[in-house]
Amino acid sequence: MPERNRQVVLKRRPNGMPVPEDFAIAEGAPPEPQPGEVLLRGLYLSLDPYMRGRISGQRSYARPTGIGEVIEGRVVGQVVRSRDPAFGEGDYAFGGYGWQLYSAVPASGLLKLDPAEAPISTALGVLGMPGMTAYIGLADIGQPKAGETVVVSAASGAVGAVAGQLAKAQGARVVGIAGGADKCRYVEAELGFDAAVDHRGGDLGAALDRACPNGIDVYFENVGGAVQEAVFPRLNDFGRIVMCGMISEYNDASPRPGPNLGAVVRKRLKIQGFIVSDQRQRYGEFRAMAAPLVRSGQLKYREDIVDGLERAPDAFIGLLQGHNFGKLLVRLADDPTR
Ligand SMILES: NC(=O)c1ccc[n+]([C@@H]2O[C@H](COP(=O)([O-])OP(=O)(O)OC[C@H]3O[C@@H](n4cnc5c(N)ncnc54)[C@H](OP(=O)(O)O)[C@@H]3O)[C@@H](O)[C@H]2O)c1
Repeated sequence: MPERNRQVVLKRRPNGMPVPEDFAIAEGAPPEPQPGEVLLRGLYLSLDPYMRGRISGQRSYARPTGIGEVIEGRVVGQVVRSRDPAFGEGDYAFGGYGWQLYSAVPASGLLKLDPAEAPISTALGVLGMPGMTAYIGLADIGQPKAGETVVVSAASGAVGAVAGQLAKAQGARVVGIAGGADKCRYVEAELGFDAAVDHRGGDLGAALDRACPNGIDVYFENVGGAVQEAVFPRLNDFGRIVMCGMISEYNDASPRPGPNLGAVVRKRLKIQGFIVSDQRQRYGEFRAMAAPLVRSGQLKYREDIVDGLERAPDAFIGLLQGHNFGKLLVRLADDPTR
């Protein structure tokens, strides 16, 4: 049995960028696994951007880490003691818990890893949550088609690297955005993206124009902030943004002006534009539904009628200032049916 456990706990909530003083080391006896649990010795701890949210204390999709609690994190480790028949001593497993050397975890929450299948550390990255994030985001939202241009930010990172490679395998032209020449070289030369653009290298908009001569069809958003600002106006008609994360804004002490798109991720909002004329073939379907409701009075409406064509400009200007009350119409001649 191990002698001591060491843990990193949250000492206080960071204000802006976290500093070492926000964390503290705690030592104690390793936990005792209960029946159905195993004691796991951590071999790899995954550090992920979402942890910044957990230690902020803000209401989000998951419970924040409390002051004095172990910082949350996923661990790949080795079983040192098992109280469940599914695991034996020496087994490798994914699903340990927290920034600590040892954790006692229910066997039912662990995934046994076979080192012969893939390096066990990959369960935290390319074959783990980040890789799956890339896969889900592309399959469910990005849906790139062959020949389309896909832009991925934080392209050399855990999620971005997988997203770009999967998009490339689906026949898209893939452009990565990364910070610095080394990361950009890696994205192009090792990962096989068609181009890489350095967001720290000057005019990002102009660089995107050069790298994406046909505009951008899919943006896999990992970063937000200035990078999002540069990508947004370059999106093509029917473009898709995979709102995965906005890491550049995670340390903001106060919200930026305007609606914060980070909430799209946290609250799993769906934002999709549309133009009604794309659906003009469904007009008959709409009328068949709505006309009886208008006739029966169940669907109410109000008209604001202005008489005379010459009043149209003023009425229109009034509309733009909220002076109309109901559907604004200009009566050009008497309506014989009323
Ligand atoms: N929605 C989900 O379920 C889900 C799941 C997993 C991850 N995510 C999100 O996916 C994104 C990537 O996560 P990851 O695990 O793959 O991390 P990562 O890309 O491996 O590491 C973070 C990278 O973000 C970039 N970055 C950090 N601060 C930045 C800033 N101020 N401006 C621009 N870029 C900055 C840096 O790359 P450069 O130097 O290249 O800029 C950094 O290497 C994050 O936003 C994360 O929150 C979402």
